[in-house]
Amino acid sequence: MCGIIGFTGNCDAKEVLIYGLKTLEYRGYDSAGIAFFADGKIKTVKTVGKVDILADKVATEVFDATECGIGHTRWATHGGVTEVNSHPHTAGRVTLIHNGIIENYQKLQEELEKQGRKPVSQTDTEIAALVFDSIYNGDPYETIRKGCEKLEGAYGFCIMFADRPGEIYAIRNGSPLVATLSDKGAVIASDMVALIKYSKDYFVLPEHMIAKLTKDAVEVTDLKGNEVKPEMLHVNWDIAAARKGGYDYFMLKEIHEQPQAISKTISPRIKDGMPDFTSDGIDDSLFKDLSRIIIVGCGTAMHAGLVGRELIEKFARIQVNVEIASEFRYADPILDEKTLVIAISQSGETADTKAAIEIAKKSGSKTLSIVNVKGSSIARESDYVLYTHAGPEIAVASTKAYTVQLSAMYLLAFKLGYINGKLSKEAVKGLVSCLRKVPSDLEQILKYDKQIETISNILTKAEDLFFIGRGLDYTLSCEGSLKLKEISYIHSEAYAAGELKHGTISLITDNIPVIAIATQKHVIQKTISNVKECRSRGANVILITNEGESVDPALCDHQITIPKMDDRFAPFSVAVIVQYLAYYTSVHRGLNVDQPRNLAKSVTVE
Ligand code: F6R
Repeated sequence: MCGIIGFTGNCDAKEVLIYGLKTLEYRGYDSAGIAFFADGKIKTVKTVGKVDILADKVATEVFDATECGIGHTRWATHGGVTEVNSHPHTAGRVTLIHNGIIENYQKLQEELEKQGRKPVSQTDTEIAALVFDSIYNGDPYETIRKGCEKLEGAYGFCIMFADRPGEIYAIRNGSPLVATLSDKGAVIASDMVALIKYSKDYFVLPEHMIAKLTKDAVEVTDLKGNEVKPEMLHVNWDIAAARKGGYDYFMLKEIHEQPQAISKTISPRIKDGMPDFTSDGIDDSLFKDLSRIIIVGCGTAMHAGLVGRELIEKFARIQVNVEIASEFRYADPILDEKTLVIAISQSGETADTKAAIEIAKKSGSKTLSIVNVKGSSIARESDYVLYTHAGPEIAVASTKAYTVQLSAMYLLAFKLGYINGKLSKEAVKGLVSCLRKVPSDLEQILKYDKQIETISNILTKAEDLFFIGRGLDYTLSCEGSLKLKEISYIHSEAYAAGELKHGTISLITDNIPVIAIATQKHVIQKTISNVKECRSRGANVILITNEGESVDPALCDHQITIPKMDDRFAPFSVAVIVQYLAYYTSVHRGLNVDQPRNLAKSVTVE
């Protein structure tokens, strides 16, 4: 949420900043701005709208060469989407960009106004700038330390001081910041995608430490001034992974990357045909003596948890609860040392999921996170981490991150089943070999694009629609419905198929689309009965089921069949189908698939 970049070095900072903001735009896209030293002074250019508009605006003015600057792409929290509310914000000698929320900004504003310091914007960020400026005495370190003591809330700041050209200072609490030094200079950003052009090696700025960037050094010190050497990390993907590579949208590219991402995630964790997490530093003792497992996450990540629950309860017979992280954190949950809390998060920065893990740790529960971004807050906060290898996910709608989360959940469920004596070695080996086949199964499903592009025409004009299914099919309905509504803006609901008749069926009228998922053998006929109930009330039905399943053609308008397989592995194929349905519906409606309105990737605020 909000993209941040800072650069100081030996090439034109404006270009570095604009390029960086384009890579970060998925973190917020309502306005953008940069500030840089030119002719010894700080100049700021801001605009409402996309980074391209900012780039055009910068190009219309002639500035002296500049080698140091900061840039921001905004997802509005406090204050409307206006140029004055866009970042960077300047107060006196302080110019800064911010990701996060300053919770006590009103109280601070009252204090500042008593000193005659009035903000011009409606943002909490400008209040932070005013606070720092009110303290600034020429010493950036003291200013930042004393200023942060006054601030409550989450923040990642990059700060320039008017009398210190060529220097950028940064500090964070909660919100992510990563930095690197390359032969071009020093770069800091909210996300590795903005750094990869310069280096594959980087570090996460530790919380409550100050980074000082100059053109040939990045120094990190704690608040007492002691030098700190943060752990260097390395990414195993390259710049091509962060580009569209010929696809119309990142989402389509990421849908196509799923077979490879799943292979990369599971292969290093299979030894002699058995799941093995020793390279993650996780030994089997973590999976023993558990009374309960709680899976926490938000949105799509939480939906991966729903699949996890089905699998773990089926294979390991351990009770699993799936909790929405934003609810869990305020729910006074019952936790003890026999509870394993699993957090699922692509970004590893989702504020609610991070808070959930913190609560679990405080209560003495063991914590394990399934995270895609190396070194992210949730990964560092958890006792154990299992990294997925989806590479960078740029489209706001999550696709490959979800299926790699599923693949990790399958391996965990098999491991739990084996360790707890519910699955024999032979059974686990059989299941693992089915899982290994998933990437090649998905290569087949990816060829359904044209068929689904045509079918999705019946959704384009819909105002409301429903997804229904039972068991694993219901969990996929939840994900399909979320995906479709977030990028097509069509109201959609997911229902456990048997629950419709308890109220919601009154909404099924002529031509309402119902997407019915019926792949789970033990409940197919039950779901088909529910489809009949919808059909007889006039619904347009798209039925997703198994090849060879005999279905009365009068029951649906369109049938999408997945190749014959062990139905316990059907979620992967269904995931791709519902992703395609959402994608093509959004394309047919002429929408920006990758950047749906009001949303942003990586939700670092509550
Ligand atoms: C939906 C989507 C979101 C995220 C959710 C959690 O397509 O992407 O629902 O899944 O915001 O994000 P992470 O996984 O980063 O914690």
